[in-house]
Amino acid sequence: MTTTRTQVAIVGAGPAGLLLSHLLHRSGIDSVVIDIRSRHDIATTIRAGILEAGSVRTLVDTGVSDRVITDGDRHDGVVFRFGGENHRIDFQELVGESVWLYPQNDVFADLAARRETDGGDVRYGVSDTAVDTSGARPVVSFIDSDGSPGRIEADLVVGSDGSRSICRKAFPAGTRGEWFREYPFAWFGFLAEAPPSHPELIYAQSEHGFALVSQRTPTMQRMYFQCAPGERPEDWDDDRIWAEMRRRVNGNGFEIQEGPISAKMVLPFRSFVTAPMRYGRLLLAGDAAHTVPPTGAKGLNLALADVRVLHEAIIDFLAGAGDEALDRYTERALDRVWKAQHFSYWMTTMLHSVEGASPFDIARQRGELALVTGSRHGAAYLAEAYTGWQQAA
Ligand code: PHB
Repeated sequence: MTTTRTQVAIVGAGPAGLLLSHLLHRSGIDSVVIDIRSRHDIATTIRAGILEAGSVRTLVDTGVSDRVITDGDRHDGVVFRFGGENHRIDFQELVGESVWLYPQNDVFADLAARRETDGGDVRYGVSDTAVDTSGARPVVSFIDSDGSPGRIEADLVVGSDGSRSICRKAFPAGTRGEWFREYPFAWFGFLAEAPPSHPELIYAQSEHGFALVSQRTPTMQRMYFQCAPGERPEDWDDDRIWAEMRRRVNGNGFEIQEGPISAKMVLPFRSFVTAPMRYGRLLLAGDAAHTVPPTGAKGLNLALADVRVLHEAIIDFLAGAGDEALDRYTERALDRVWKAQHFSYWMTTMLHSVEGASPFDIARQRGELALVTGSRHGAAYLAEAYTGWQQAA
């Protein structure tokens, strides 16, 4: 058994865990990061693709990488398509901000490379991770990728270990609340080998259900369409998928670019929050503490925002500010979390079709879309939320 002493043990080496480790390193604070997945598995898992302006600033200004600027695609607006027409919301004109199309895989690759260059202790492919909260300080135990048992003793443990978080489960019974909502649908996601259909993202509402036309590279595109939660990717061949996309998106001279399909998956929809995001010296960040449906592209951005405020709280705590500094993290993070919960829920209900919806509900939904795209104030509300709110003090 090898025991490692560090200031902060981080469980989960996705973007949240690695960004925290990077920011702490820049502040002279040691950390050890562990993950049960291999570096290759994390790097090749397809996830979201949109970064808020603040997420981009964090990556660039803290020296992670400039690749988001050089290789990413700046989007100054987004398109809502309904009634067979495109309605563009101009972020720059409305709120002076943009978002960047830069996939989560690339965010991970940049962070992993930066941590490696800076000599960070990141251990991929561990197993049997456990967090013991019974002592004065939490202890993380695990089996290293070479089979040897390890133990990390730290001042603080951070669980950035995703929606199935073992750190969340290590909170003793009764020490946190849960808020959640299920939805009667899911997204069918896939990659298409084709040129982009449009320079910006298209969120399409139609009587046949929602569809999203996103992008990846000049020759590879990412798309999604609303489906039943129990749908199986193997039941959908390319023809069936394109037929579904066409009837939801094409019309009035607009046609999506088609091509061979790969990476088919069904994404579950769930809104979830747990709070407080800390028990003693164990803290949660990102999906471990909250999940949002993907419609607002908020999941990754929210995780990075958690980490920015957690980094400040950890500095204060290690400087002697006491538990108050850690409680302040939960309060500050939750302020944004609930805004993002509302935004993701709202985008979802505004764009998806619900089976058995009344004629009133269907017409009301169209009225909502007309308001958001047709009113300057409605559009600015969406633009501010989509590009990311300023951090409250
Ligand atoms: C994506 O490109 O994967 C993507 C973009 C916007 C979303 C969700 C996913 O809202």
